[in-house]
Amino acid sequence: MRPFPFLVKPATFGRSCAAVLGAFAVSGCSWQSWLGLNGKQSTFDVQGPVARVQLHLFYITCWVTFLIFLIVAGVLAYATIRFKSRSAADEHAEPPPQGHGNPLVEMSLIGGTVLALVIIAVPTLKAILFTYDVPIADKADAYEVTATGYQWWFKFEYPGEQIAGAGTLTTANELVIPAGRPIHINLRSMDVMHSFWVPKLAGKVDMIPNRPNFLWLKADEPGYFWGQCAEFCGESHAVMRFRVIALEPREFNDWLAQQRQPARSVAGAAPFGEAKARLASLRAFGENESGVSGNFEVAPLDAWRAKQFPEKGEDPALISEGRRFFAEKTCISCHTIRGVPGALGVAGPELTHVGARSSIAGGLLDNTPEQIQRWIHNPELVKPGNKMWVTGYLVNHIQLTPEDEAALAAFLESLK
Ligand code: CUA
Repeated sequence: MRPFPFLVKPATFGRSCAAVLGAFAVSGCSWQSWLGLNGKQSTFDVQGPVARVQLHLFYITCWVTFLIFLIVAGVLAYATIRFKSRSAADEHAEPPPQGHGNPLVEMSLIGGTVLALVIIAVPTLKAILFTYDVPIADKADAYEVTATGYQWWFKFEYPGEQIAGAGTLTTANELVIPAGRPIHINLRSMDVMHSFWVPKLAGKVDMIPNRPNFLWLKADEPGYFWGQCAEFCGESHAVMRFRVIALEPREFNDWLAQQRQPARSVAGAAPFGEAKARLASLRAFGENESGVSGNFEVAPLDAWRAKQFPEKGEDPALISEGRRFFAEKTCISCHTIRGVPGALGVAGPELTHVGARSSIAGGLLDNTPEQIQRWIHNPELVKPGNKMWVTGYLVNHIQLTPEDEAALAAFLESLK
């Protein structure tokens, strides 16, 4: 008799375990979310009604299929053990009498299957109806925004906020919403298919060129949420991210009022020559080096709030020089900054209040002068294939010295 009569060989078992653990490792689950299920983009740590209904449906489906697994595996294990050949005589024994169907077993299997499908189908249909659009009773309270996917960043517009002479209030890469209110989000795409996904607030919905789409979500409480494009959309799909910041209604209104203002202007106090002497050169960043600090891991909402105010020790001379370069180096042909003459471009993200955002480059890097400088120094190294590099820098022959970069970074950071 073999030492493991009913089990696989230890070596095979070890290899299977290694394969399962390896699959976890390469699936991108962080250890935190794998064990604690509360990672930054965990669908288990739901913070709003839409995601909650979807998680509930996931659990129902899991439990039903787990029960089916237990029954099938139990019957299989029973048959395997009960009817295993135990001697040489068993191996040459006549097969047992063969039947041709058992009405009771067959009807039970059909009935059981239908029951399992019904148990899954009823909550599925209810969830589809609930998650499709803002419930009728809450429609009047719904706040509307429009999200547009670009390769590889998100534009956010607030149709309810019209600014005289400038049109709809527009931001990029960070969607600020009122907490506790249903948000109806129109989904658009400017180029290829993208998908809008804030795991803690709602499941993903595709953004399809020439096909208006929408979803709704609600954040129970004020919070800071990580989002991600969830549809392969080209070489930098994996770094097409965004953030959602949910604020108390009053704080949200203050934010709106601030966003309606034109860009902050900082008058240069000292001649640029003096500022230039103080410039630190850019340290070398490695390829794929993370641009995210611990700031947004511990208290992300507080870190975001801190970004709403001018930085300590900002350099007016450097900032006003950066403002000049922004026009001179043709940045204005792709970016809008309300308040900077000629800055009306719409090919790239709106930058009027970029300094008040917590991230840049499509939610990829923390918004610090160092990371801005890293980004504008060579965008291609951060986000391969992006248009700022190819149609911006290469076509327009944009060349920046470290001083230009530092001044531009100081200017962009000053835009609160
Ligand atoms: Cu956009 Cu993937």
